[in-house]
Amino acid sequence: MLKGKKIVLGITGSIAAYKAAILVRLLVKAGAEVQVVMTPSGKEFISPLTLSTLSGNAVLSEFFNERSGEWHSHVSLGLWADAMIIAPASAATIAKMATGVADNLLITTYLSMKAPVFVAPAMDLDMYAHPSTTRNIEQLKAYGNHIIEPAAGELASHLVGKGRMEEPENIVRAIEEYFTSMAEPASPLSGKKIVITAGPTYEKIDPVRFIGNYSSGKMGYALAEECALAGADVTLVSGPVSLATPHPAIHRIDVESAAEMYDAARASFTDADAAILCAAVADFTPDTRATEKIKREKGSGLTLQLKPTPDIAASLGAEKRPGQRLVGFALETHDAEAHAREKLAKKNLDFIVLNSLEDKGAGFAVDTNKVTIIDAESATSYPLKSKREVARDIVKHLSTLFVSLLLMMLLPAGVQAQELKANITLNTEKIDGTNNEVFDVLKNSLDEFINNTSWTEYEFEEHERIACNFSIVVESYAEDGTFECSLMVQSLRPIYGSSYSTPVFKYQDNEVEFKYMAYDRLEYKEDNLDNNLTAIIAFYAYLIIGLDMDTMGELGGTEFLNKAQNIASGAQSLGGTGWQSGTSTRNRFTIIDDYMNTALLPVRQMMYSYHRKGFDIMFREADKGRAEIAKSLELLQSGYQDRPLSYFPKLFTEYKQEELINIFSQGPAKERKQAVEILTEINPSLTSSWDKISTI
Ligand code: PMT
Repeated sequence: MLKGKKIVLGITGSIAAYKAAILVRLLVKAGAEVQVVMTPSGKEFISPLTLSTLSGNAVLSEFFNERSGEWHSHVSLGLWADAMIIAPASAATIAKMATGVADNLLITTYLSMKAPVFVAPAMDLDMYAHPSTTRNIEQLKAYGNHIIEPAAGELASHLVGKGRMEEPENIVRAIEEYFTSMAEPASPLSGKKIVITAGPTYEKIDPVRFIGNYSSGKMGYALAEECALAGADVTLVSGPVSLATPHPAIHRIDVESAAEMYDAARASFTDADAAILCAAVADFTPDTRATEKIKREKGSGLTLQLKPTPDIAASLGAEKRPGQRLVGFALETHDAEAHAREKLAKKNLDFIVLNSLEDKGAGFAVDTNKVTIIDAESATSYPLKSKREVARDIVKHLSTLFVSLLLMMLLPAGVQAQELKANITLNTEKIDGTNNEVFDVLKNSLDEFINNTSWTEYEFEEHERIACNFSIVVESYAEDGTFECSLMVQSLRPIYGSSYSTPVFKYQDNEVEFKYMAYDRLEYKEDNLDNNLTAIIAFYAYLIIGLDMDTMGELGGTEFLNKAQNIASGAQSLGGTGWQSGTSTRNRFTIIDDYMNTALLPVRQMMYSYHRKGFDIMFREADKGRAEIAKSLELLQSGYQDRPLSYFPKLFTEYKQEELINIFSQGPAKERKQAVEILTEINPSLTSSWDKISTI
């Protein structure tokens, strides 16, 4: 991810500067080009010579080189860089960055920087905890800089606390993650309107006293930032906290009491796509509020009469429209999961994030949290992480609901299908010298025929279409318009939450024969297969759509696979090759007949289980996804055992060969062993490939 990236590394005066040498080495090793810029006091802690040797570039520190008179332009560095990292960032540099005190080359470079800036603070615990540092860091965040939080541990002063610069490996990881996230396709949350409640509520007793709680707002604000980074349109309904709005695109509404939060959240939820209710809302408020300060009466106590506050979550849950998503939090002290599940059901939530005060480092005010995400079907527990990382996990979980929502829109009750986005290539090298005009016309007509025919009754956006390739190699061409060809058909399906596309079908058809004269009309009629070429294309179009739909819903492609089967039966009388039943060669007829045979039902179920239950979650939960894929191989095996002469299981293992090796070589020994056994049984000709699963 960092290969070829240009990085300005700013080093300031801190004992942690020695780690900058490791950081430079790691960045260079990852393929980045590094330009070090140091503050004058940074040079007291680590020698520029070390850094220039490691980076391969002269270190910059002064505005101009006294010896050569060369001017060091901070403006051109700002334009040159793909990222700037300031590590270590001392309290003084952070303060200068927050206020724009441009008295050294590092700060002027920062002020001119067009690329994202990452700041890794390093200082003693008291300096880090000082309100001015906190305020300056919040200010840097508000400018859009990325803060790489310092770790807690023993500091240079021998005191123990937070302030130690994050380890260079983790800094590099943070930057890699940033570039990866930038390269990823648009998040499913992009453009979604999301309401987030955060912080405590204050319920006034009199003008000077209130009932409140310890919520700092950190968890809710981290969620708001992550959603905004995912491209969502965020409304943050915030109780009284001392945090700056974490992202310039967030619309923030400040409230104080539960009643105010209720009004603001309800009003914003009307046209929202989702709400995440992270606020610690008071459950009770004083029945009456004294207008004047309640005086202490000698010898007598004070009894407050309380009444319940409105339950925001329950109210939004009751109003939730189909398609709207609602996420709640549960802060528990005992019987945590049971209580959380109760809230999940009672408040009509899509999922609930449980944090328990029984867990050290979780809950109120701290920078970390330990959560379990619970929905109607499952509970996933995460280790203790920074609230930022927890927010990322929650956002990922929410994103999958929008992906499944998209799928549900595509696949209501009986499962709908998508159109094709076909790429056609026509290779005529083997018959060079023939008049080529007819091939050009054929290629254009085929393109138009495949991509403009409505293969389904539904309307789909361009980006929702199934990607497939038809690659035709012309073997011979006769003057009467007879073509003999081989055809490679291939289709790919995207994996949700990733940029990866997985093969769903790949097949080489060597028996393509058809007649075509330039400007013949390519037209397909279901009930009148009068052109062998359009029959071939329609057959593969329906087969691809059907197979793809089988990966989306269990046996979801039946309607389209039936169409492909009808074409294969009907085309037998057309005279072209590739359609005959009972011939020894594998052909179109046999493939579809095989796949639709009841004995192969487990294989069709495998298509769903492998892709939808396995692959679609693998990029979120690698182990869980891989385990599902392992289970799906058992389905493949049982289909194969029911019909050992069938072709499809072999074909599947062939075009998934690389993918299967990659998936299982990351798994535990038991899964690897089982996969090798099954795959070797189904496709012994690839034994040497399957062996790689155990040896990699
Ligand atoms: O702000 P931090 O210091 O970072 O701390 C984070 C947090 C601990 C506050 C946060 O992680 C959290 O757990 N928030 C929910 C706290 C809470 O009130 O939990 P609960 O179990 O009492 O409420 C259940 C759900 O109903 C919550 O989503 C809550 O927002 C919602 N609720 C509760 C009462 C009410 N009147 N209206 C509500 O909407």
